[in-house]
Formats: sequence, structure tokens, C-alpha cells
Amino acid sequence: MSLSLCTWILLLLLLLLLAVPGTPQVTVIVDGKVHAKLGSDIKLFCNVKTLELISQVTWQRKLSPNNENFLTYSKGEEPLHLIPFGERVRFLGNGDLGGSILIPNVTLTDEGTYLCIYTTFPSGTNEGEIKLSIWVEPSVEVQLNPVLSGPNPAVIAECVAFASKPAANISWNTYGLLYTSKEIPTQHPNGTVTIRSQLWMVPSPGLNGHQATCLVSQLDQNFEKYVNFIITNIHYAPQSVHIKVHREERDPLYIECLADGNPPVTYTWRRENGSIPDDVAQATGNTLHFSRGNTDYNGLYVCEATNSIGRISHSVYLYKYSGAAPRGNEGAYIAAIVVQSVIIIGMAVYCYLMKSNQMERICKRKGKTPRVNQNQDETESVGLQQCT
Ligand SMILES: *[C@@H]1O[C@H](CO)[C@@H](O)[C@H](O)[C@H]1NC(C)=O
Ligand SMILES: *[C@@H]1O[C@H](CO)[C@@H](O)[C@H](O)[C@H]1NC(C)=O
Ligand SMILES: *[C@@H]1O[C@H](CO)[C@@H](O)[C@H](O)[C@H]1NC(C)=O
Ligand SMILES: *[C@@H]1O[C@H](CO)[C@@H](O)[C@H](O)[C@H]1NC(C)=O
Repeated sequence: MSLSLCTWILLLLLLLLLAVPGTPQVTVIVDGKVHAKLGSDIKLFCNVKTLELISQVTWQRKLSPNNENFLTYSKGEEPLHLIPFGERVRFLGNGDLGGSILIPNVTLTDEGTYLCIYTTFPSGTNEGEIKLSIWVEPSVEVQLNPVLSGPNPAVIAECVAFASKPAANISWNTYGLLYTSKEIPTQHPNGTVTIRSQLWMVPSPGLNGHQATCLVSQLDQNFEKYVNFIITNIHYAPQSVHIKVHREERDPLYIECLADGNPPVTYTWRRENGSIPDDVAQATGNTLHFSRGNTDYNGLYVCEATNSIGRISHSVYLYKYSGAAPRGNEGAYIAAIVVQSVIIIGMAVYCYLMKSNQMERICKRKGKTPRVNQNQDETESVGLQQCT
């Protein structure tokens, strides 16, 4: 016999109880508190310790003003399932002392207090009380809405833990970048709570591409969910535009316009004073392909980079180089001077290009931002290189 100490103590207690007149000789044993996950099949344990004659087990839900019977079992008979709730419940009693039940697929409305009542002879009724609480895991979602770039903090992302019980805890990781967060709880009539946490950061274009993580947890439930995402929703007008001139010996000339912007940039090409004839060049996306054999390239070509936030344009002046004739290649050598004119909504920059052969230029600039200046210098030096 390897009875544990506990069992010995229980037996001893039982003997003591039996020996003392006037104390109840029936003990209903239940799990006082049951915490179940929504949708799980949950067992409500109930048993009795007695030497008396058991006649019946009854289950009730504690309600006001009257409790509600939903299941009774009398020895030697089939269990009786009362009311719709009782019909869902399975009786696990084995015909002996066991009175446990199983509630399949628990819902929030199953939450409450349950009574397991034993009727014995001669004591009468004795009950055990079980408090059933339901926990609900949140469904988690990260929402990224477009944000216009700017100097002031804005909501970059929202992490939502929908309809959980108890309320979820949301925290953020931005991997070293500064942020603040703000939580907005919403209580639902069914007892669940939605938590919406906003991630506030300064929306600079450079934020795009950075990783961030939202962590949603319910401490008691051991529930933890990480949502990793890449910030892609900072919108800004096209910037850092430049034109690249390709003059490989064997290939026909083509020029490429490159700009940075979000949403993605679309490009259009035109000549100084109108559209570009098909027999001169064809535009595909950001590239302008000049027709082979056509030597009448001379002119100022303007690339306009546009997205829904703004636009910027950039020009290249192509002209026939009148120096020593190179070997082969269509009898003409094309040199380019790159200039830039920028229009970003309400900002205009006028550039005049004079005397193409000497690569002299005079630019009058108005209202330029340092960034634009920097780009211009960059591309100008490219242009000069191309002319040597
Ligand atoms: C559990 O209950 C929910 C809502 O009452 C129901 O939508 C779902 O189909 C049930 N699941 C099972 C396995 O019975
Ligand atoms: C929420 O989670 C954070 C990070 O895991 C933890 O430091 C904090 O104590 C939690 N707060 C609550 C109320 O659970
Ligand atoms: C609780 O209510 C919310 C809001 O009406 C709903 O979205 C959610 O599905 C409900 N949860 C359960 C478990 O019924
Ligand atoms: C258009 O451009 C071409 C070449 O750049 C030039 O010769 C012509 O005079 C321009 N026409 C007008 C109307 O500006």
C-alpha cells in the first residue's frame, strides 16, 4: 500500500468527521474556479465523499432571482437534460459517486456560477460551487495607413487586439528609433475589450524600410503574439531626381530618369517645347530611347517625375559635339549638359541654358531648397564629365 500522506490525512479527517456527531457527513468536492478558453470543451468536476445513500445529483446555474436546473441524474436512470443549455451538456457521472459534467465549445454566455447538488439520505442536499470564467484570445492586426512625411510626430502604425478577455497588453519595438504610443480601449457588451495602440513617430521618408514589431500579450493566459512589419507607408513627393545619359559606343543613345518617391513615381518625357516625335525617340517608363541613325537629337529634354504627392522635373540638354569625329557609331558624338528645373507644388526653378557648344550656362534659381541644390550639383558634375 502506497497511500500518500494527503490521502492518510483525508481518511483521518473523514473518520474524525464521522466520529463527531452533528457535523455534516457529506462533502461535495468541486474545483472552485475554472478558467476556460473560449471554444474549448471544459469539464466541471464534481464528486462526493460520503458513506450515506446517494439518491440524486442536480446541476444548477446560479441566477437571480431563481437558480436554474439544467441537469439531474438519479441513480439507475438516464440523466435528464433540461432547458437548451442542459441539452448541450454531457454528464460524465459513472453511476457511482461521480457527478462531473462537460460543457463542449464554451461561449461567453456560459460564464457564471454553477452548483453541483448531491441529495443523500439522511442528510438531504449538499452542494459545491464552481465559478466558470471564460478567456478570449485577441485577434491581432497591424494597420498601416498612408502618412504624409513631415516634421511632427504622426501615427505610423496601429496594432489592434480585437475583442479579448481580459484586455490585451500591447507593446512596441522600433529597434532603436524614437517613438511614443497611445492606447485606445473599447469595451464591448459581451465583456470583451478591443485595444488599439498607436505608434507615433516623426514621419520622415527615411523611415520607410525600417522594421518594427508589435507585441500583444495576455499575461495570465500565456498568450503572446509578435507581429513584425516593415514601415512602407510614409508618403512623400518625388525627390533626388537625376538623369543618366548612356552613350555606349555600340548602342543607340538612351537617357534614364531616376527619382525617389512614395507612392512610386511615374515618369513622362518631353522636349523643351513639345512632345518628342516617334522617329526621334520613344519613352518606356523612365527611359528615353533614341532611334538609331537619327542625329537630330539637339534640344532640351525634360523628365517629369510624378506621384500623388507632388512632382519634380529635371532636364538634360543634348547636342552634337563638333570636335574630332569618333570611329564608327552613327557619325555623331553626343554630349550632354544636365540642368535641372524643379517644380514641387508651388516652388519653381527657372534655368536657362545658353551657348551649348561651349557648355556655358547661366541659371537663375529661385526658392531652392538645399536638397535640390545638392542634387543639382551632383548631376551637373555628371554632365560635365560626360562632355569631356
Ligand atoms: C462553437 O460555437 C461557435 C459559436 O457558438 C460556433 O460558431 C462553432 O461552430 C462551434 N464549434 C463547434 C466545433 O461546435
Ligand atoms: C505589458 O507588457 C509589457 C512588456 O511585456 C510589460 O512590461 C508590462 O508589465 C505589461 N503590462 C501589463 C499591465 O500587463
Ligand atoms: C464580442 O463582441 C465583439 C464586438 O461586438 C465581437 O467582435 C466579438 O466577436 C464578440 N466575441 C465573442 C466571443 O462573442
Ligand atoms: C522648338 O524647339 C526647337 C529645337 O529645340 C527649336 O528649333 C524651335 O524653334 C522651337 N519652337 C518653338 C515654337 O519654340
